[in-house]
Amino acid sequence: MSAEPPRDSIALAITGASGALYATRTLAALLERRCHVELIVTEYGRRLLRDELGEAAAVDRLIDYLIGRYGESVRQGSFTLYSNRDLGAKIASGSQDCRAMIVVPCSMKTLAGIAHGLSRTLTERAADVMLKERRPLVIVPRETPMSLPQLRNMVLCAEAGALVMPAMPAFYQMPKTLDDLADFMAGKILSAIGFSHELYPRWGS
Ligand SMILES: Cc1cc2nc3c(=O)[nH]c(=O)nc-3n(C[C@H](O)[C@H](O)[C@H](O)COP(=O)(O)O)c2cc1C
Repeated sequence: MSAEPPRDSIALAITGASGALYATRTLAALLERRCHVELIVTEYGRRLLRDELGEAAAVDRLIDYLIGRYGESVRQGSFTLYSNRDLGAKIASGSQDCRAMIVVPCSMKTLAGIAHGLSRTLTERAADVMLKERRPLVIVPRETPMSLPQLRNMVLCAEAGALVMPAMPAFYQMPKTLDDLADFMAGKILSAIGFSHELYPRWGS
């Protein structure tokens, strides 16, 4: 019998909104905490990783990118990558054991799909499962300005039980780099699903 405590299992979807750095920082922070991440990267999420972070961040090289950028401690966790088309994946079912799901960054398209319970893709279906099972779902939308339908879709998600956390890093912690901004959002996300962290200085500290 293993003495190792069971790993936290967290679902993470990366969609095609700007802000790939928020996704890689959040993924790295979960891996550093020994989580097992059930990872979905949509087609446009894959494009955004390469467009914003370079070819080195392409999905098939992601673990090397994370180690290079965030250090060896990401090896403490693990992830399984799913196709967004795979509606038969285990995270499409309510019997899966993920205790929380994060969609970061979340495009307006995926936001709409979640808001309306469409379940057309694995991201939408896994998010729907979290809502119906009353488990934490953190959605990090990014768009500006926002149309009325987009604003209404955020309200629908919040009413259904999701935590809507727009990608709006604060400046009171005096960020100096893009990584400081990404650390802030990743820290907010980790706090929302119950992890302690030191990704940004606390207010007043
Ligand atoms: C370079 C680039 C940047 C984009 N940025 C955003 C964005 O910030 N927010 C957004 O809602 N969509 C953005 N889009 C559009 C989405 O990628 C597009 O609607 C896509 O269909 C989303 O699909 P997905 O949710 O399956 O990833 C961007 C597209 C590209 C190519």
